[in-house]
Amino acid sequence: MARKIRIGMIGYGYWGPNLTRNFAELAQAELVAVADQDLNRLNSVRTRYPNITLTQDYTDLFKMDLDACVVATPPQTHYTIARDCLEHGLHTLVEKPLTLESKTSFELYKLAHERDLRLMVGHTFLYNSTVRALKDLIDEGEFGNIFYMDAVRVNLGLYQKHCDVMWDLAPHDISIFMYLMGEVPNTVSASGGSFLVPNKHDVAYLSLSFPSGKLAHIHASWINPNKERRITIVGNKKMAVYDDLQTVERIKIFDKGVDAPPYTDTFADFQFSYRYGDVISPYIDFIEPLRVEAQHFVDCIVNHWTPLSDGKNGLDVVRILEAADKSIALGGATVECSQYSLDEEVRVPAAI
Ligand SMILES: NC(=O)c1ccc[n+]([C@@H]2O[C@H](COP(=O)([O-])OP(=O)(O)OC[C@H]3O[C@@H](n4cnc5c(N)ncnc54)[C@H](O)[C@@H]3O)[C@@H](O)[C@H]2O)c1
Repeated sequence: MARKIRIGMIGYGYWGPNLTRNFAELAQAELVAVADQDLNRLNSVRTRYPNITLTQDYTDLFKMDLDACVVATPPQTHYTIARDCLEHGLHTLVEKPLTLESKTSFELYKLAHERDLRLMVGHTFLYNSTVRALKDLIDEGEFGNIFYMDAVRVNLGLYQKHCDVMWDLAPHDISIFMYLMGEVPNTVSASGGSFLVPNKHDVAYLSLSFPSGKLAHIHASWINPNKERRITIVGNKKMAVYDDLQTVERIKIFDKGVDAPPYTDTFADFQFSYRYGDVISPYIDFIEPLRVEAQHFVDCIVNHWTPLSDGKNGLDVVRILEAADKSIALGGATVECSQYSLDEEVRVPAAI
């Protein structure tokens, strides 16, 4: 029997326990150790997994004959820890965002490439069966030509210490949009407000433009009265609303549309024809996204596959967030996303 993939977990705060549970339950993986600086967090691991090694120093994991590490520490620590893991020959799954700068994300992507290691980013929604069902519907042409997508990801809290709301929440929607659209935005304009803590945005609005001309918009907030997790997709044939807070009927597909007249001279508006049809909600068999994500990471290691959310995907999300930061600083100006080429190893401006 093939050896199980030996995994070390780094960071056992809010999110780490979810990843740990999923890796611990995978048949092809063996959870060997958990590292967390905080002794209280390690004590709570002990209760649940009595037989694994615990350490406050993550570099101890490098002496344990591991195959891979999973990094679920705060974003500002990702670069150093992930680089250490890769330099020690370990396949590495890093939580989102990959790092807080495109330069360091590119370094990790390049390092993994040079060492022939799998670098994967925890863009969880790419492993979510509802998002995957939407992707299938889009690819089958259910919505026709996509015009735009819109995301609302707002709630009251959880306020993060080391990054703002955009870097905390928008990676989800950016990764979802790139996956659904099948392309990477080339320009971004954004605005943000720091209402509670100076210089730390607690609300952000991002507009993304894609090379094909499609648009996407993201509203992220930690200071909204109610929690919303909603994505709207508008195509020329059909439209959809995906509400991630629903336990059933997460996607509603509207057979609605507008047909423009063949030409638009006088009174053209009156000739638009609006279509109102059925609303259907397809059944989706829900599997915990983190289970699919954990299994995919192990499958990629075993089969030498490139992860769906690989280092390049992580770098793309960070490039877009960085351009959005620049746009906010410029008062909402349209900013091109920087581009990195693995071949040339140079940073070149995006061509539009
Ligand atoms: N994919 C998702 O849906 C999702 C959801 C929540 C959080 N996250 C991501 O997970 C990561 C962790 O977020 P969180 O909310 O769990 O943070 P957290 O602050 O609750 O937990 C982080 C843990 O890491 C430990 N830690 C910090 N530095 C360390 C180091 N050098 N060595 C060992 N341990 C260290 C801390 O002691 C803490 O227990 C972030 O990148 C966040 O963006 C992802």
